[in-house]
Amino acid sequence: MTKKGFIFDLDGVIVDTAKYHFLAWKKLANSLGIDFTEEENEQLKGVSRVKSLEKILSWGNKTISEEKFMELMAEKNEDYLSHISKMDEDEILPDVPRILKLLKELQQAISLGSASKNARTILERVDLKASFDAIVDGNDVSKAKPDPEVFLIAAKQLGIKPEHCIVFEDSVAGIEAANVASMISIGIGSEYVLGHAKYVFRDFTEISDEFIKSLIEN
Ligand code: BG6
Ligand code: MG
Repeated sequence: MTKKGFIFDLDGVIVDTAKYHFLAWKKLANSLGIDFTEEENEQLKGVSRVKSLEKILSWGNKTISEEKFMELMAEKNEDYLSHISKMDEDEILPDVPRILKLLKELQQAISLGSASKNARTILERVDLKASFDAIVDGNDVSKAKPDPEVFLIAAKQLGIKPEHCIVFEDSVAGIEAANVASMISIGIGSEYVLGHAKYVFRDFTEISDEFIKSLIEN
């Protein structure tokens, strides 16, 4: 059987942390008198912490000092970490363990490809670190999604050509990054939001073993 590279985003794909990012950004935005909707949040998914704060400030027409910017970033992360600290395996999204187990049985290469600097902490909390052959996260990249850097580094670490990699993503920015990297993009979420993905599934329960095998064989 051919060996393909399967690259998973973390937040909103493996674990349900997208909701915690939303809560923490909303709290911060509102404290600055800036409105923050679910639609705006969609634009922050997959986007780095720095870029996310830049976007929120621009939506609110606010300019702040460098020092204040750093303070706000730390504040958001502390708030986010307070949610994370209560996480356990129950927050792994449905059927993610089944897919990871199947890929392992089929001897496929598996990597994480996340923008988060908290990725390793989260994987440890939900006891999934050992499921990955490579972990590439926000600490390893200089360019944020939609730049393909994170996925290209993952492919390199797995020793698999980008064209032989498959990316699971819940964000618009991440799907774009996978497409730019010439990888097969699989959106996890709504077709309406992730229309640029090659395939879209609501969640992993909709992905059959046969579909995974067809990705490996084709
Ligand atoms: C992405 C999330 O996975 O990581 C974004 O979708 C988040 O919402 C980004 O901003 C950076 O995460 P962190 O944990 O380093 O702030
Ligand atoms: Mg995500």
